[in-house]
Amino acid sequence: MSVSDDLHKRLASAPVVPLVVPDDPETAIKTTQALVAGGLTVIEVVLRTPEAVECLSEVVSAVPDAIVGAGTVLSERQAAEVVFAGAQFIISPGLYAPVVEYAKSARLPIFPGVATASEAQNAWNMGLRSLKFFPASLAGGPAMLKAIGSVFKDVKFMPTGGVSAANLSDYLALPNVLACGGSWLTPKSAIAEGNYQIIADLAAEAVAIASKARG
Ligand code: 3PG
Repeated sequence: MSVSDDLHKRLASAPVVPLVVPDDPETAIKTTQALVAGGLTVIEVVLRTPEAVECLSEVVSAVPDAIVGAGTVLSERQAAEVVFAGAQFIISPGLYAPVVEYAKSARLPIFPGVATASEAQNAWNMGLRSLKFFPASLAGGPAMLKAIGSVFKDVKFMPTGGVSAANLSDYLALPNVLACGGSWLTPKSAIAEGNYQIIADLAAEAVAIASKARG
């Protein structure tokens, strides 16, 4: 099975992508293991700390049950770094053609962020049919996705930014939502306390909400 097929299969059964903000490899690995234990196996490690690329590489090797992607990929250079580190998909906050092209050349799924119809149209003309919707709550939330869905009928979105257990089912009720992303599953306080059970419980709660929303 290709990475893309595996990714879509996993997102069909558990349509939630937790963000891991890595401070060091050990906590990034434990956080990812807790998410997998809770039932979420598609993980986004974001490039927001100096240690992020090293953490990504360690998580990829230490947690083979997870599909680990890189998020907050802003440049072609970062795209090259995360591919070298073993990222299995790439997510960007915005739409930047060189990152899209790099991911395509590396044969990795790429989810660039869009927040407007023009950005979605540009992405559609780049041949993309799966897009991040960011920042979801500020860019119009489920109502915007519903409106945009009537135009981009063959596009699926991954809303991220302001998604939580409280509004997850509102997004997942929409047919054009592939999955929701978010950091609510990996609270900094739980990681600081070393309480990874909280993270596993939040993941399990998200899986339960998703299965109820998706029937
Ligand atoms: C992202 O990078 O996708 C967002 O910063 C995540 O937003 P959240 O913290 O509101 O989940």
